[in-house]
Amino acid sequence: MFNLESIVRPNVLKMKPYSSARDDFQGIANIFLDANENSLGSLAGENYNRYPDPHQKKLKKLISEIKGVKPEQVFLGNGSDEAIDLLLRAFCQPGKDALLSLPPTYGMYEVSANLNEVRIDTVKLTADFQIPVREVLQTVRPETKLIFVCSPNNPTGNSIEAEAIETLLKEFNGLVVLDEAYIDFADTPSWTTRLDEFPNLVVLQTFSKAWGMAGLRLGMAFASKEIIALLDKIKPPYNINEATQELALQALDKTEVLKDMVEEITQERELLMMSLPGLNAVELVYPSDANFILVKVTDAAAVYKHLLSKGIVVRNRSGLPGCEECIRISVGTLEENQELLKALAEF
Ligand SMILES: Cc1ncc(COP(=O)(O)O)c(C=O)c1O
Repeated sequence: MFNLESIVRPNVLKMKPYSSARDDFQGIANIFLDANENSLGSLAGENYNRYPDPHQKKLKKLISEIKGVKPEQVFLGNGSDEAIDLLLRAFCQPGKDALLSLPPTYGMYEVSANLNEVRIDTVKLTADFQIPVREVLQTVRPETKLIFVCSPNNPTGNSIEAEAIETLLKEFNGLVVLDEAYIDFADTPSWTTRLDEFPNLVVLQTFSKAWGMAGLRLGMAFASKEIIALLDKIKPPYNINEATQELALQALDKTEVLKDMVEEITQERELLMMSLPGLNAVELVYPSDANFILVKVTDAAAVYKHLLSKGIVVRNRSGLPGCEECIRISVGTLEENQELLKALAEF
């Protein structure tokens, strides 16, 4: 049986969160001398002399409406990388607890684990990059607090079968962290629709990909209100800056543009999927539900170098298990993709 309190780090359960100046004060005032800000103004522009809302109330409300969840089920981080780190810090005792990750996958789970002195157990995805569920369930131990599942998976691009995720949610007594950074490019619905069914589900999403806001650093975690309250308790008080909050509020008003961009990117992806297999350098093009494609080439290091000589940077993913001689190509604009195809044809 999943029991949230039993998997939270005891010091996190016990600790009191930082109380900011604006938390202490409630009511109406027009002279703020409580937070050691610069009352004269800001060199950066209006509002920026004041600390941002530490609870991001407006932003959370709007995001919750768009995503169909309650505002208490939304955590906002300085990128979803911050949410990954905070999940580890909330649930894994350094030197004692473990997380499980499924390579080849996103590298930050391992980096955060190493930083936080959390043991990382790995179970490789199958040859078609799906979860070997039984093996995962046999590998988890009482110390395993988190399983990270990335769907669509980076760098392979495929979505993970829903049945496998559901089995983990039902049979694993820790948290299943489902990283949906690329979900906007997939046809499958987000697991945010099933949060109320699974008290041990955490869904990560980001504004860095489909929303085109990687430079602003805004990530989301969706989970039960109890899990979200824990993340809010341990986050740095002002983790989402004022400029990001303002610009994200504006962006959330433009969901039509988001839809158009996603459509264009997925169309460009399909064009690349059709053109790449005809090239001599290409051995295999993996299916993708994301805004990138994993491609097995004849010689990844040489192809990478060749593309670089043409001013095109891709990612050589050869070092990852199951990705030997593979490069990962982000879908660009029509012109960029044509340049890429031309350069690859010249290899
Ligand atoms: C699977 C996955 N999760 C999370 C992130 C990080 O996103 P953010 O920019 O929100 O920190 C990335 C970035 O590449 C990613 O590929």
